[in-house]
Amino acid sequence: MRKVTLLLSAILLFITTGCGSGNNGSDGPGAWHSYSGDKEIEHRVDSVLKLMTLEEKIGQMTQFSANWSITGPVMSDDFKPYLDKGLIGSIFNATSVEGIRRIQQTAVDSSRLGIPILFGQDVIHGYKTIFPIPLAEACSWDLALMQRTAEIAALEAASDGINWTFAPMVDIARDARWGRVMEGAGEDPYLGSRVAEARVIGFQGGRGGESLGALHTLLACGKHLAAYGAAEAGRDYNTAELSEHTLRNVYLPPYRAALEAGVGTFMASFNEINGVPATADRWLMTDILRDEWGFKGFVVSDYTGVNELVPHGVAEDEQHAAELAANAGIDMDMTGATFIKHLTRSVEEGTVSEKTIDNAARRILEMKFLLGLFDDPYRYLDGERAGQNTMTPAFMETARKAVASSVVLLKNKDNLLPISKERAVTVALIGPLMNDSVNLNGEWAGLGERNKSVPILQGLTEKYKESAVKLIYAEGSAISETSPGKIAEAVTAARRADIVIAAVGESFHWSGEAAVRTDIRLPEAQRQLLEALKETGKPVVLINLSGRPLDLSWEDEQMDAILQAWFPGTQAGHGIADVIAGDQNPSARLVMSFPRNLGQIPIYYNRKNTGRPVDLTDETIDYKSNYLDSSITPLYPFGYGLSYTTYVISDLSLDKHSMKATGDSITVTATVQNSGEVDGEMVVQLYIRDLVGSVTRPVKELKGFQKVSLKAGESRQVTFELRAEDLAFYGIDMKKKTEPGNFKLWVAQRSDDNENEARFTVE
Ligand code: NOJ
Repeated sequence: MRKVTLLLSAILLFITTGCGSGNNGSDGPGAWHSYSGDKEIEHRVDSVLKLMTLEEKIGQMTQFSANWSITGPVMSDDFKPYLDKGLIGSIFNATSVEGIRRIQQTAVDSSRLGIPILFGQDVIHGYKTIFPIPLAEACSWDLALMQRTAEIAALEAASDGINWTFAPMVDIARDARWGRVMEGAGEDPYLGSRVAEARVIGFQGGRGGESLGALHTLLACGKHLAAYGAAEAGRDYNTAELSEHTLRNVYLPPYRAALEAGVGTFMASFNEINGVPATADRWLMTDILRDEWGFKGFVVSDYTGVNELVPHGVAEDEQHAAELAANAGIDMDMTGATFIKHLTRSVEEGTVSEKTIDNAARRILEMKFLLGLFDDPYRYLDGERAGQNTMTPAFMETARKAVASSVVLLKNKDNLLPISKERAVTVALIGPLMNDSVNLNGEWAGLGERNKSVPILQGLTEKYKESAVKLIYAEGSAISETSPGKIAEAVTAARRADIVIAAVGESFHWSGEAAVRTDIRLPEAQRQLLEALKETGKPVVLINLSGRPLDLSWEDEQMDAILQAWFPGTQAGHGIADVIAGDQNPSARLVMSFPRNLGQIPIYYNRKNTGRPVDLTDETIDYKSNYLDSSITPLYPFGYGLSYTTYVISDLSLDKHSMKATGDSITVTATVQNSGEVDGEMVVQLYIRDLVGSVTRPVKELKGFQKVSLKAGESRQVTFELRAEDLAFYGIDMKKKTEPGNFKLWVAQRSDDNENEARFTVE
């Protein structure tokens, strides 16, 4: 405590004597412009900076992990000696109020200036209450829900002493082989941007960082800048080779949206883009991020991302790597210890300017001020809060709703689902993931206790207790292996039943970081089980749990109903049972295309037309951009998902058919009707096509959506405001603008729904 008092008096002294606000020059990688824009905070930051040695400033730019082996291959030096000397800015993977307090106390009491530590953690889809994986949640198209689950995750984590999350991950994903598709919002830049905003606002407690420092919020981190999801062949950490047009029009918008929502930090991606690793990319980290977009928070490297500039082959050694990264605009080195080991010398030798160090340290110190850590380094460390704010009944309810809102009904032959409680049927519950609780949380499941997640078997058993439905269970197969005996048991159960429900899918380790698959079908053992079940002649409902779109073409042919359940988290069993029994009507829509086969990947709805477009009514025509052995269309497209009711869209109208290229808009209206017999929620989707551009434009682009609740038989008018700037893109001159010309527009139920089409012109 003594050190804090010392430091605080130094700050006060500085403010009252009104010393200069430090170096505001513009030549380093991004001049110092504070994130908050608050002059008093700027003064306080500079007052601390003024007391610091060069090494202490570089110490602020240094982050270590409290548990070396969790997420990376390289062990950093033990951090304690650095901590004692005040040479650490942040620690991550430290858990529990007591554990974090011990570290904070050392930083504050042992170091010369007692500057508090920032505590980070991968709070990705929940901290203790685990929500569906982000890809699943995005399928809900329910932004308020996504904001709420981020708020809950923030509250739980902040109550446990964490103040910074490495989320949201906003990387566009077009390749289902890549295991990290599970962490993002899928393939679309518009939807991805809205989800990025919702999650930043949820974590940080509001727009623009207005609530940073409130004890129910976390500092957020948009990651991974940039185009990490464009890894060639879906192989993690692999090269991204893409045009600046694609980078700016497809990959960058969600990061930009995170920034506009006020994200306080970004994380650099591991990959290179067109020959330059992001961690060393000054064009990306400074010219675009700071100078063009005006980002004022700080940028952290990814785990040993700076050291990796050596194997990337752009740095001679780690000192060179540290210089490249610092000069590019990386403010903090995650776990690699390159900054703390080498940058003092680099400054002495003049390869990195002291101003660069000052500005990076300022950005990090400012966040500590905004989080209130200088006023009280222990403010997140109240032992009582964790108990009060963890896995509460209200959080469980939200988690359960999130599950039901995220599962996508892909097929439902003869309305096999729902199985209402009144139906006098016997249902055989089969499959490796039917009585599982370990896999349900998926990867990146925070500190969620896997054995507390509700298995599907438990959810269904509780749901159908005291109902006409009788349940029997047989495992049938483990995830990767089975035996004739196990399959025979499952077949016997199926024969005794009227309906079979099989819960199949991936192990949770098969997606997430460094979890790439070149075969995205169900494992052979599970396929054998499904074949045997099919042979019984009983109708089979498949519940597929996976962290990525799988190739389900065989299942689509053979199974009667398919529910894509992803990895649903803590309330998995209850949320799925709500949908199976019809207490919740499925309303989720895919945010990533499901391929027909691996050869179609990368596959995404907003593709280009090519000069030899395929006629989708006759794909056999030669010398077109098609395949000899497959359709070019996906098995299930972006925006697709069934429901227990049906919807009709009609009466599409535009208030005018032409608008100016700036400051104008068109009002689009359509009638949506629930034409079935069950209440439900429909995702109304607005797509456009820019018919001629200075560069080629996608065949369709999502520009708006609304999730509307409709009672059975109810009709409602939906309205979209399509602004001229919504049509802007980076054209041939690499400037973002709306180009005059003709457009098509659809109000649709899914990306390949062309029924309600209109045209308009931009003058
Ligand atoms: C590496 C991952 O790429 C990143 O997303 C994560 O935040 C860090 N490790 C820290 O765990």
